[in-house]
Amino acid sequence: MATEKLADIGLIGLAVMGENLALNIADHGFRVAVYNRTTQVMKDFIAANPDTPGGLVGCATLPELLAAIKKPRKIIILVKAGPAVDAVTRQLMDDGLEKDDLVIDCGNSLWTDTIRREKDYAGHCRFFGSGVSGGEIGARFGPSLMPGGDAQAWQHLEPIWKAIAAKVDPETGKAIETAKPGQPVVGGIPCTAYIGENGAGHYVKMIHNGIEYIDMQLISEAYFLMRNLLGAAPDQLAQTFARWNEGDLDSYLIEITADILKQRDPQKPDSFLVDHILDTAQQKGTGKWTSVNALDMGIPANAIAEAVFARNLSALKDERVEASKQLVGPEYSYSGNREELIDSVRDALYCSKICAYAQGFQLMRAAESEYKWKFDFASIAAIWRGGCIIRAHFLQKITDAYRREPRLLNLLLDPYFKEQIQKTQSRWRSVVAIAAQAGIAVPAFMSALAYYDGYRSAQLPANLLQAQRDYFGAHTYERTDQPRGRLFHLDWPAPDRPELAIANSGKSD
Ligand code: 6PG
Repeated sequence: MATEKLADIGLIGLAVMGENLALNIADHGFRVAVYNRTTQVMKDFIAANPDTPGGLVGCATLPELLAAIKKPRKIIILVKAGPAVDAVTRQLMDDGLEKDDLVIDCGNSLWTDTIRREKDYAGHCRFFGSGVSGGEIGARFGPSLMPGGDAQAWQHLEPIWKAIAAKVDPETGKAIETAKPGQPVVGGIPCTAYIGENGAGHYVKMIHNGIEYIDMQLISEAYFLMRNLLGAAPDQLAQTFARWNEGDLDSYLIEITADILKQRDPQKPDSFLVDHILDTAQQKGTGKWTSVNALDMGIPANAIAEAVFARNLSALKDERVEASKQLVGPEYSYSGNREELIDSVRDALYCSKICAYAQGFQLMRAAESEYKWKFDFASIAAIWRGGCIIRAHFLQKITDAYRREPRLLNLLLDPYFKEQIQKTQSRWRSVVAIAAQAGIAVPAFMSALAYYDGYRSAQLPANLLQAQRDYFGAHTYERTDQPRGRLFHLDWPAPDRPELAIANSGKSD
């Protein structure tokens, strides 16, 4: 172990994310002490990177790591989310971690685990949870970072987090793509900001991932519709997505979609790789967490949940293949204008995306009161403009919306987004109608539209539903002509005589 100079920060876990994050930190002039359970991995990593600007210090044991870092120590853990995070933290505590030291969990941990850990380890260390988005490349050259934990502790982390985060141009809000190893971007706005206490950072990262799921599903549905209705080849569609990437849909996910679609299959170069990839989506669970949380809090994030269910349905490959032989759909062939359909699919994607983000932000609003956080929504949107998987020009528009109205009830009510949907909704509707007529499954487009129409409806059929509940279970109902909270019950079916409606101010069971 090199002992000449203490490290600014430590990092445990040298899988690819850990290695890349360590190199990113070292590129910005910070000295990084690194540890990995399998020592050879650490040795190989150190040997492969002898000349970083800040310097890397290899540590074979946790006591060595603790001895190698300046106090209060800052130690990043990048191990598999779950029990390993507790195991490593406890081991550090046994090996001499001090109460002012910061342990920063940068994995995709469940936010409730982070809340619990902050409490469990109080007095032994300051436990911090930081969302890190951007995959391997983001970790290496600039991720979006969503830190949550003790506000006092944040000041120790802030200089490093701001240095290593992705940067956006202050004028355009667009990600600055010029970050190269050893050449930090100068002048951009860092894609990180303190999110809030305890699990807030991991919660916001989870919402990011829920949005990531729906963004990916919407793009996939757009591709699927154009492939099936127009018979467009993948490389033609690549051009369509590349064109879309120059407009309102400008985003990392659209950009990589264009790249993916033009990729030929290295094994069969006369065809496209996408056509040879099995249509079963996998997942690690963060989209499911978002959906479960939406259900727990009673927030209608149906498009996000639909994206998770779409992955689930895709996973039933064998069943679907069998069902496709038995279940009949409509005969349909699209005979309209090709360009018009492509433009309509683009608009459907854009409108659905607005609804999906509205749901994600609505969920964060609900979490604020549930967990006593105080989110700065403009700042959250701003740090998603660069570095992360959902980075997009669109997030500048969301940032602007929350700057205009920090306590905006729903993104759909912002004047800019209102106008966008107003302008494009008829084409969104026509795409959904065509998909239904053609028998092509586009659950996210449809679900987002149902959310939009439901949210803008002063009247929904829940009056009948409440009557049914009261009929079979005496669960009571409120009346339109009485103050809210006043509950009524009828002995159904009853003659139409008002004196038989029993006013009941008690609570329904
Ligand atoms: C990110 C991503 C990342 C996530 C992968 C895979 O922000 O960098 O969200 O954290 O783990 O995208 O997620 P799934 O396996 O669930 O698709």
